[in-house]
Amino acid sequence: MAVLVTGGAGYIGSHAARVLQRAGQKVLIYDNLSTGYEFLTQGFELLRGDIGDRTRLMPALKRVQAVMHFAAHCYVGESVQNPRKYFSNNVESPLALLNACVDAGISRFVFSSTCAVYGVPAKVPITEDTPRLPVNPYGVSKMFFERALEAYNQAYGLRYASLRYFNAAGADESGETGECHDPESHLIPLALAAAAGAGPPLQIFGTDYPTPDGTCIRDYVHVNDLAEAHVKALQHLDGGGDCLAANLGTGDGYSVMEVVAMVEKITGKKVPRQIVGRRPGDPPALVADPALAHERLQWNARRSLSDIVSTAWQWWQRKPANLSCQPSPVSNA
Ligand SMILES: NC(=O)c1ccc[n+]([C@@H]2O[C@H](COP(=O)([O-])OP(=O)(O)OC[C@H]3O[C@@H](n4cnc5c(N)ncnc54)[C@H](O)[C@@H]3O)[C@@H](O)[C@H]2O)c1
Repeated sequence: MAVLVTGGAGYIGSHAARVLQRAGQKVLIYDNLSTGYEFLTQGFELLRGDIGDRTRLMPALKRVQAVMHFAAHCYVGESVQNPRKYFSNNVESPLALLNACVDAGISRFVFSSTCAVYGVPAKVPITEDTPRLPVNPYGVSKMFFERALEAYNQAYGLRYASLRYFNAAGADESGETGECHDPESHLIPLALAAAAGAGPPLQIFGTDYPTPDGTCIRDYVHVNDLAEAHVKALQHLDGGGDCLAANLGTGDGYSVMEVVAMVEKITGKKVPRQIVGRRPGDPPALVADPALAHERLQWNARRSLSDIVSTAWQWWQRKPANLSCQPSPVSNA
């Protein structure tokens, strides 16, 4: 099968492209390089274009049977400050992509959704029937697109899997690709940068949460485990399986302090840190119940927090020196 990977020059898409290719699929990457990097697409055909550009998309879609849609803007805080940018790139342009898919006869579509669609859930671990009540425009934009997929399935028969990632982290074991958001807002690369002396002290946002050590708990899932779930979702749709929305997480939560301790263990270096106040809208704990992905896709996250930090550290040491890892003033997805 040939698959169009939108956003394949970015962090998660570049991993999915590799895992798809290793599974024997033909991959075309479609990316406007707004936050992605051409060097991450080495070994793939890169079609440079915007997902809102129907003229550029149609010939690309004629060459594939399925689409994996990763392209989006992903900074939660920025989405609050500039919702227009987010509704344009995460809703308006993806609708143009979806319409082009229907017109090109694409019947399988895998979408990068997020646990941000749940907002601040009443209970943890989070199951898929938890109400979708996003608390920022980024989460709303992802929920909107999930709903569009549901409507397009009913009306036009487009078959989809919406995969709700928890905290993507780690890097491909080959060392070919890894995380390089600019600016960076994710805990692990910022902790590695601080440990390496290449970034400011790690800011820890709040130590007074109702958690065992007072810091926020998140479910960190290795990016290649995520990528493998995409391949399984595609196989599921290909085999006639029902459309679905599934959480992708490990089911285990780690606090900020536990992650920092793991970074210190793997790197053998101290993480300089600074305790600051809570960030508005940060729930104390977000942990997936991944049972549905296990039952419907036969998927499990196989890699541990130690694997995540080890591969991220390997990437950190190998990545091009000109890629900075400067902290973002806003939080990421
Ligand atoms: N990183 C996470 O922890 C996380 C968590 C949940 C969901 N997600 C979702 O996963 C997806 C990928 O995230 P990422 O961390 O790899 O981000 P990223 O910024 O590294 O990758 C996004 C890619 O999409 C491209 N792109 C953006 N807008 C485009 C457009 N209009 N046309 C064509 N290409 C465009 C960018 O150039 C980039 O290569 C996003 O949809 C994001 O919302 C990420």
